[in-house]
Formats: sequence, structure tokens, C-alpha cells
Amino acid sequence: MRASVIAHRDYVIADIDNRIYGAFLEHLGRAIYTGIYEPDHPTADKNGMRGDVAQLVRDLNVPMVRYPGGNFVSAYNWEDGIGPKEQRPTRLDLAWHTSESNQVGIHEFADWCDTVGTDMMLAVNLGSRGLEEARNFVEYVNGPTGSYWGDLRKKNGRADPWDVKLWCLGNEMDGPWQIGHKTAEEYGRLAGETAKALRAFDKSLELIVCGSSHSNMPTYPEWERVVLEHTYESVDHISLHMYSSNHDKHTPNYLAHNVKLETYISTVASTIDYVKAKTRSKRKVTISFDEWNVWYHSHKQDRAILDGKHGWPHAPALLEDIYNFEDVLQVACCLNTFIRKSDVVKLACIAQLVNVIAPIMTEPGGAAWKQTTYYPFYFASLFGRGRALNLLVSSPVYESSLAGEVPYLDVSGVENEAEGTLTFFLVNRSGDEQLEVDLSLQGYADAGVVDHQIMVHEDLNAVNSAANPDNVRPQQGSGAKAEGGSLTVSLPPHSYQMVRLS
Ligand code: AHR
Repeated sequence: MRASVIAHRDYVIADIDNRIYGAFLEHLGRAIYTGIYEPDHPTADKNGMRGDVAQLVRDLNVPMVRYPGGNFVSAYNWEDGIGPKEQRPTRLDLAWHTSESNQVGIHEFADWCDTVGTDMMLAVNLGSRGLEEARNFVEYVNGPTGSYWGDLRKKNGRADPWDVKLWCLGNEMDGPWQIGHKTAEEYGRLAGETAKALRAFDKSLELIVCGSSHSNMPTYPEWERVVLEHTYESVDHISLHMYSSNHDKHTPNYLAHNVKLETYISTVASTIDYVKAKTRSKRKVTISFDEWNVWYHSHKQDRAILDGKHGWPHAPALLEDIYNFEDVLQVACCLNTFIRKSDVVKLACIAQLVNVIAPIMTEPGGAAWKQTTYYPFYFASLFGRGRALNLLVSSPVYESSLAGEVPYLDVSGVENEAEGTLTFFLVNRSGDEQLEVDLSLQGYADAGVVDHQIMVHEDLNAVNSAANPDNVRPQQGSGAKAEGGSLTVSLPPHSYQMVRLS
């Protein structure tokens, strides 16, 4: 099979906001406890944070981490996580049927973010709580000393405000599973009033209002219209979530997921435009895709805990999807979508970061290792920064029941002017045929290949583990040739490649 691509230097989608390579950490399962925090671990620092995990996170160059939830935040009291650790209460976590010891709270998380070189993106509880507690949390985190909350923060060891800019106004409020679930009208009113109060404190905050939890939600996309009509003037982003799964073990359908993702983003972008016009607004609200990933491998094994059959365990294994090679292709395709939609998607978070549907896994007291999906995220985060090119792609297609017509080739292109590089991320969705790709590089006549990475495996179900951490990993590619303004590259069946030119 053959596909062709035209990349023109002046044909640009947008400057990519680096924050599309964000991540998410929730008080859920072993994400925090025995994930990032394990005081008895041999690599733990003075704050009890695992050094091996911190290094793997640092290597991903994640610009910000969303915290503390997720469903967890909708019944969370942030005050439980401040003050002397021995006085912090253990609470029942209603979202995941577990116990929360509160040994990690905002101070510990903020210190960890400093250690790994990332910013905080915080969520307030608009499920079981409301405007007042949200306002207090924001003032505790960002307020000056000389005021009640700022002085309390100082007493607890931190005089300087953290100056966190990104604030999520609740989580998945459209979901009937959410504690404090609301209708679009109810939530829109509450979010609008909360945003008003937070803006009265600090106009420069970036506020994120909840959109849909999935494009299959019955309230989508009317939810977005109603919520935005209440909040358009006072928020900056609307959040979308979507996970993919392959329960039926049907790879062509599974790999069609990001076509559906792209339609979802386009529809919400149109809804934003509609509300902007209707409200005669001058603002441009954009999208924060703050939960995305593959999530299904662990569904069955989690049932007993979620159904309460184990009581209220503290930090049990939950949502521990072990990713396979097929998931590499999926994650790579989703990242391509975020690059291609970088004109409207300004923030995104892979959900999540450690142990819970995550690229990084740990053993309590033992090793930390990279899941298969670590690599496409790593390559995009490191080399997918710059300007997204508007590629003209011509590829053979197949028909999928999930998303209709799907091209075998999924590709994105990023030019980094400062570094003088041009990077392509390519996936061959076909499991049977090699794909020969001809890329015409217009305006890049002198470019030559400087790096070529390939991920391919004879077994779609191959995984990494503590015992075999390198089973699925990238290899140096060969055969990508750039000459006289054209690049040719062969994609083996079911493969992912990154080709960099300079
Ligand atoms: O990331 C796991 C869960 O998925 C989050 O808690 C929730 O927001 C979503 O449903």
C-alpha cells in the first residue's frame, strides 16, 4: 500500500501549547501511595517521595499535573490534607470504595511537583461541596499572608503562595456516578458563580469548566451548550474526557478510536463558536482534554473492590491496566489527534501518570518500570513541541463500525523553528500490509534525517513487566530517506515511527 503526504512550511494549524503533554494524578488506588509516595522505599527522598518514579516522570518533561481527582475530588475535603500528618483524619473515599489516609495533601504534592519540574493544575470539589470551600482552597494555595488562609499555609510550612494558575471547576459533573452529579443548568449556574468568586480574587487564573465525560454521554453535546451559556464570560477552557477500550479484541475498530476523538473535539469546538456568537462574546474559550488514555484491561479485576466486597482498603491495586503493544498504536494516534487539533486543544492530560491507567508502574518496595505506552508519550512530549503542520494526507482507508472511514496512515507533523527540526509521528493501522509513505517537504529542501525511532512487535498483546521491562521498546529505525525535498519511509504492519529531520 502507498500513502502520500504534503508538508508545506507555511501551511500551519497552530502553535502547539506545550501543556497538551500534561498528566493526571488522583488519590486512587496506588497512584499516590506506593506510586509517587513511599517513605520506606530505598529511593525515597526526605519527603518520602520515590526517587525512581520521580526520575521517570522528569524524563517525560510533563508541563503540569492535574490533582487530586478525578471522581475522588467530588467528595474530598482539601483541609484533611494539611497540618501535622499525625493529626490528619482517615476518611472513606466514596468514589473508589477505599480509605484515604491523607498523608499526602497539597503541601506534599506541591513539593513533589517542584522535585519533578512540573506545574500544578488543581481541581476544586463542586460535588459534595461548593463555592465557599472552592474559594477557601484557592486562597489557601494562592493567597497572601496577612489573610486567614495565607497565614494558615505559612503556619503549615509554606509562606509563599504557590501561584497556581490552572483550576478545574469540579470533575465530570455530567456523570450520574459522580458524587453531587448535576444537570447542565444546575452545574452551569454553580460553575459560573464559583468562577466569578475566584476571578474576584485573581483575574489571571485559568478556569476550566466541566464538559462531557465521553461523547457517548446522553447529555452530550447539549451539556456543553448549556454550561457554556452560563459560564462563557468567566472561564477559559472547557474540559473533555474520553477513554478507549478494546473489549471485543477488534483491532481495526480499536484503532478507529481517535477518528471519533477528533469528531468529538470538532463538535465541541463548534459548540464553543456557537455560544461565543450567541453571547456576542470577544473571548475565545478553548478545550482542556484533561483525561484521555486507554482504560479497560483492569475493569473486571476491579469489580470486587468497587462493589465493596473488600471493605475500605487503603491504596489497593485499582485501575492497574497493563498495556500491550497494541496500546502503543492507540496512544500514538490520540497524541497525533491532539497535535492536529492544537488550534482548539490547549491543555491535555494523559490519565493517569503512575500505577493507575498509567505509563509508569511500580512494585511496592521494588522496581519502577515503563509501560509500553510510556514511549509514544515520551516522544511526543519531547519532540512534538513547536508548530503543528497542516498536512495534506492521501491514504488508503478501511471501514470501521466505530467511526466510519478510517485512513490506514495516521500522521502528524511538527516544526520546531528554534531547534530547526521537523518531526513526523506515523502509525500504520493495517495489520496485514506494509505502508510506503512518500512525504513531499515543501520549503524544507535541505532537510535530512537525524533520528528515526520505530516500535513494532510480532505480538499485539506483548507487555512490559518488572521482570521483563524491555519487552516492548523503541528501536533505531532504518531506511527513512530524505532527498531533494522528499522523504520516503516504510511502515511495517501495525507500527509506530518517529522521524526527525533537520
Ligand atoms: O481516571 C479515572 C477516572 O475516570 C477519574 O476519576 C474520572 O474523572 C474518570 O471517570
